[in-house]
Amino acid sequence: MSARTVNVAIIGGGLMGREIAAALRRWPALVDHPVTPRLVAVCDINPTALEWFANIDTVRLTTTDHRELLADPDIDVVYIAVRHDLHEELYVDTIRAGKALLAEKPFGIDRAAADAILTAIEETPGSFVRVSSEMPFFPGAQWAIDYVRSGALGRLIEAKCTFLHASDLDTAKPVNWKRQKQFCGDAGVMNDLGMHTWHVPLRLGWRPERVFGVLQDIVTERPGPDGVLQPCDTWDNAVIHSRAEHEGVPFALTTATKRIAPGEKNTWEFEAIGMSGGVRFSTKNPKEVQVFAVVDVPGVGREQSWQRIDSGSQSVWPTVTGPNFEGGFSDAILQMWAAFLAEHAGVLGDRFGTVRPDEAALTHRIFAAAIASHENGALVAPEA
Ligand SMILES: NC(=O)c1ccc[n+]([C@@H]2O[C@H](COP(=O)([O-])OP(=O)(O)OC[C@H]3O[C@@H](n4cnc5c(N)ncnc54)[C@H](O)[C@@H]3O)[C@@H](O)[C@H]2O)c1
Repeated sequence: MSARTVNVAIIGGGLMGREIAAALRRWPALVDHPVTPRLVAVCDINPTALEWFANIDTVRLTTTDHRELLADPDIDVVYIAVRHDLHEELYVDTIRAGKALLAEKPFGIDRAAADAILTAIEETPGSFVRVSSEMPFFPGAQWAIDYVRSGALGRLIEAKCTFLHASDLDTAKPVNWKRQKQFCGDAGVMNDLGMHTWHVPLRLGWRPERVFGVLQDIVTERPGPDGVLQPCDTWDNAVIHSRAEHEGVPFALTTATKRIAPGEKNTWEFEAIGMSGGVRFSTKNPKEVQVFAVVDVPGVGREQSWQRIDSGSQSVWPTVTGPNFEGGFSDAILQMWAAFLAEHAGVLGDRFGTVRPDEAALTHRIFAAAIASHENGALVAPEA
């Protein structure tokens, strides 16, 4: 198959901008992908951030003005990784410029921003927008999703999806934009990590009817650049309990996003437990998937058993990597881009895809309902 070249640009050359630039350089690992992305332009308001991209020989435009980048007719696809308060303006400008967009979460700082982005999509013929969420592209996560879809769970009892960080346990860690409401948003940690915990549940059709939010702002001040304490006014930890339906039967669905989960470094976990089966995956042991079954134990009889299986390296799009090798975060990013560009090219088929704009907008409604629930102690239905 001859691959079509797609010219990619990045707006926001920080942590995630560099990660994506690196992932695109690993594209030859994918087998028979229909497109070949080429990073041609990068925008960051900080010229120092642009210096890192000088090492990438395909980059022919670096700029501090996103309008200059969007005016370039040869750019097909834009990835944007900036502060949450900047999402709405930059996403809307990109969509209206006729570029395909892989947006970062949380897809606008709040529900109103997400809705403004949806309006731009509706008003722009041919627009194609998806939202970043890479953890479900771990091979073990894909196994877990396929297990649920197989029907092996039987009647679903409960499911859980969590995303856990721990570096905020250090109260001397300086404040940054992700810990300030004005830049991160009222939803705090949910804006930061919540898309990761809702991508799989929503894609499996698990839409919460009513939610109960348990939110915590544990560290309320952190040192600023001069060492003086500044407000750190975002939720640190958020647990959302809810009721959803699987095949018409209600079950307990919980998502948890925590910046203070001691010992955890970017741990994404998914678990679904039913009357006939169960499945668990955690990036803590990234090779391992656990499945539940009642088995015959020789000499003992029928027993309940959690079995541990190594999942290997293959995810949504095949790679040259040996199937028995293990993968990690960077591989999940590559797989997410493989899915995004395949869907853009119309050839994703029934493979697992990146978050859709309607799903992203729904997460803002869920977070708002969780905050309202936390404040008034009631179950709250996410707004339509
Ligand atoms: N998918 C993931 O796993 C993941 C992980 C971390 C962050 N994120 C998301 O990515 C986004 C960015 O986070 P980050 O950690 O990369 O942030 P960051 O602070 O490391 O980088 C943001 C960059 O944007 C630049 N910038 C600010 N305003 C700009 C503008 N108007 N035009 C161009 N560049 C501008 C900054 O100078 C900075 O270099 C956020 O939405 C965040 O939630 C996603």
